[in-house]
Amino acid sequence: MNFKTEILQYSDDTVRHVSDILLDGGIVAIPTETVYGLAANAFDADAVKKIFIAKGRPQDNPLIVHIGHIDQLSEVASSVPEAAFRLAENFWPGPLSIIVPKSERIPDVVTCGLNSVAVRMPSNPIASQIINTSGVPLAAPSANLSGRPSPTTAEHVIADLNGKIDAIIDGGKCSVGVESTVISLVGEKPRLLRPGGITLEQLKSVLGEVEVDDAVLAEIKPGQTVSSPGMKYKHYSPSARVILLSGSLDRFINFVSTKRSSAAICFDGEASKLDIPSLEIGGAEDYSEQAVRLFDALRAVDQLGAEVVYVHMPAPKGIGLAVVNRLLRAAAFTVVDLDGPVLIGVTGQT
Ligand code: TXA
Ligand code: MG
Repeated sequence: MNFKTEILQYSDDTVRHVSDILLDGGIVAIPTETVYGLAANAFDADAVKKIFIAKGRPQDNPLIVHIGHIDQLSEVASSVPEAAFRLAENFWPGPLSIIVPKSERIPDVVTCGLNSVAVRMPSNPIASQIINTSGVPLAAPSANLSGRPSPTTAEHVIADLNGKIDAIIDGGKCSVGVESTVISLVGEKPRLLRPGGITLEQLKSVLGEVEVDDAVLAEIKPGQTVSSPGMKYKHYSPSARVILLSGSLDRFINFVSTKRSSAAICFDGEASKLDIPSLEIGGAEDYSEQAVRLFDALRAVDQLGAEVVYVHMPAPKGIGLAVVNRLLRAAAFTVVDLDGPVLIGVTGQT
């Protein structure tokens, strides 16, 4: 499909314009507080199909449905567990997607045939204005080409999707920077499927017990059944190969110093100590800042012309769990433990 993509600055008029495009069956990239989303009317199966084509998205990876008001939850869910209301009260609008049983009004193409649907009420004011002006829930995955880092600016969306979608609304930089937390309420116990802007600790403070899906930090084995289809794909990848290095700054400096054709992603204050091109993503303990800057760094690193990118691995604390989860996928789970006993053997091989 060939589109002339309109690139629009936010205004009340452009919101009305893109709402009309959405109601006419078009697809539009919109800002949210997490990452930019590629939106279609969630009730319009033909419009939703265009999202899969534009992104090159696998047909078995379901979309999140975005609502503008709590009353819309009953339009998209067939029943709403009490826990969903408690989560909504505490964390909506915001970066939390809640999986509930799906209503018949949501076409199968949105959920890829599952009988559950992920629902989120974004807090970004432009996103909620678009949902409320169009009057329909919007199905929206991240607005990147499948496999690429999620977009946190309109420029990232343009780089991936210009000419493939109807319009892009530029709403500036996303304030959270990683995608929403995904929690499932359709099993016996609440289960964290994807860490994100709302932390595990925050979820536990409302729900008590929350199970963490194996796929959050471990690699999916071939043939293993997954609770969230998105977790089985390699994701967030620059063209360069990504390798995570876990350990002290001294060991990190030592390890990367001899590496040719490589670049580094590291913490604030570290780049000047490395002798390869490097990008900083925030202080070592500033997990929110790391989340905000992660995807931009994964895109920017390709401009450094490196074949391998060494990333100083952050701690999985708070929203840092989401940062580590995304980095593990970008690195296809290649982690070198610099402080571990196998250091010498691994150094020789890499
Ligand atoms: O922050 C976000 O969540 C962004 C913005 C645009 O809202 N959206 C986003 O969508 O990250 P996407 O499509 O890139 O990721 C959706 C994830 C995938 O891992 C998918 O497998 C999972 O949610 N998912 C969606 N519906 C599901 C369902 N019914 N059951 C299990 N997993 C589901
Ligand atoms: Mg995505």
